[in-house]
Amino acid sequence: MAGGSIVTQVGGKEYPGSFTLFVAMACLVASSGGLIFGYDIGISGGVTSMDSFLSKFFPSVYRKAKEDVSTNQYCKFDSQLLTLFTSSLYLAALASSFVASSLTRTSGRKWSMFVGGITFLIGAVINGLAINVFMLILGRILLGVGVGFANQSVPLYLSEMAPAKLRGMLNIGFQLMITIGILAANLINFVMSKYEWGWRVSLGLAGVPAFIITIGSLCLPDTPNSLIERGHAEKAKEILAKVRGTKDIQDEFNDLTAASEDSKLIKSQWKDMLEPKCRPPLVVTILVPFFQQLTGINVIMFYAPVLFKTIGFGDDASLMSAVITGVINVLATVVSIIVVDKYGRRILFLEGGVQMLICQIAVGVLIGHAFGTSGVGELSKSYSMFIVGLICAYVAAFAWSWGPLGWLVPSEIFPLEIRSAGQTVNVAVNMFFTFIIGQVFLTMLCHMKFGLFFFFGGWVLIMTIFIFFFVPETKNVPIEEMILVWKNHWFWGKYISESDIHVGNVEMTKKPHVKTP
Ligand code: BGC
Repeated sequence: MAGGSIVTQVGGKEYPGSFTLFVAMACLVASSGGLIFGYDIGISGGVTSMDSFLSKFFPSVYRKAKEDVSTNQYCKFDSQLLTLFTSSLYLAALASSFVASSLTRTSGRKWSMFVGGITFLIGAVINGLAINVFMLILGRILLGVGVGFANQSVPLYLSEMAPAKLRGMLNIGFQLMITIGILAANLINFVMSKYEWGWRVSLGLAGVPAFIITIGSLCLPDTPNSLIERGHAEKAKEILAKVRGTKDIQDEFNDLTAASEDSKLIKSQWKDMLEPKCRPPLVVTILVPFFQQLTGINVIMFYAPVLFKTIGFGDDASLMSAVITGVINVLATVVSIIVVDKYGRRILFLEGGVQMLICQIAVGVLIGHAFGTSGVGELSKSYSMFIVGLICAYVAAFAWSWGPLGWLVPSEIFPLEIRSAGQTVNVAVNMFFTFIIGQVFLTMLCHMKFGLFFFFGGWVLIMTIFIFFFVPETKNVPIEEMILVWKNHWFWGKYISESDIHVGNVEMTKKPHVKTP
């Protein structure tokens, strides 16, 4: 079935094609890989605050929490052991993304998704049945391995499958699934916190999204780019015609073949990444996930109930507020799906940055005003509702900017031969800083108090300036022609020589949609 017809034009070529049911289904199934990541982000915070879970596995933490009668709002919930349990998953994901990098390159994108799904499935079962801390940690490590494989391969898969004009929309399906996973986890925790064995259901249900991506990946075709790279040109042609809904694919096929010829020349993805022509995407791919985590979003995702408790909400109201931010997170992601290919990545990055900054400063000022540096005080209902409103506006801004773009942009800016390694860098940096934030946030809150909001605000300012000067617009540019965008950039252009370019026509890229700042 073909929907609206699309013609992508860059470098003087036209790529005909339409939005086919085939590409829609393939991307839908692949993006379900985001569910496992999202479910995990959402589930751990709630489970580790359930009394039955704490008293069974972390009795010392449980006793300490019960004995704590301090009134300092900033320092109530500090427990390194518990945060280490939560964030250990991110270290496992980091390590496994390096293994995933070779599998994704040499065996295809779909097999990494499969390995991710099945490992996560086993981890979920072990966690749901856990009778001791060992099972809990083992399960958690397997979940991390699953996330590492899925996050390494799914964004690449989506970016390569999509026609250039819809790449943003289809890739953000991954982030949409992440947000749906987080919301589902928040809701499940909300219900399960009322039962003694609730934590088992919360942890075990992670098996559901894992099952979907495991079975789904078996039914998916691999991307034309990966098939050509692995020497299956005929199959690639067949899949390309299917996903584009037309037989008129020769131009695009030629670009993919040219990219694959370049790809054969390299010995090691990692060595090649240090070549000057890879400097621009490499620097952007290190900084984008670093900045994404320094927005402070996971403070909300991991600790929303704690944070809402801090500003004076009761247990139920805190969990409920976490559900509200979860809903906003999903809805605002849909906004970016609608606009990302029309207005581009840069405008979303810039608007989102400004909106987050304003909200962070306002929340810092309001909390500082109420609790001062002593951390003692009380908030009126209307005052705390106003703060919740600002937190929601902050989550919305993240959800249509750094959230989805943190996965989209790194997956679309590398040349084919090192795209897989590039995505590993993205996952590794992201997981490392997710780990750090998860680990140090509560201690930071205790020491920096309301200044923490200004700390993250300062980073948001820096990242917004970085985007303005150093990240070119990539909307609508065919993925194998991205080198032309770098070549035309005021700063990065010097790293790309004419002999690096084997696709398109560099002069022709000087058009509005690939014009660089
Ligand atoms: C980030 C996660 C974050 C989530 C929130 C993702 O893009 O990588 O760290 O928790 O967005 O929706």
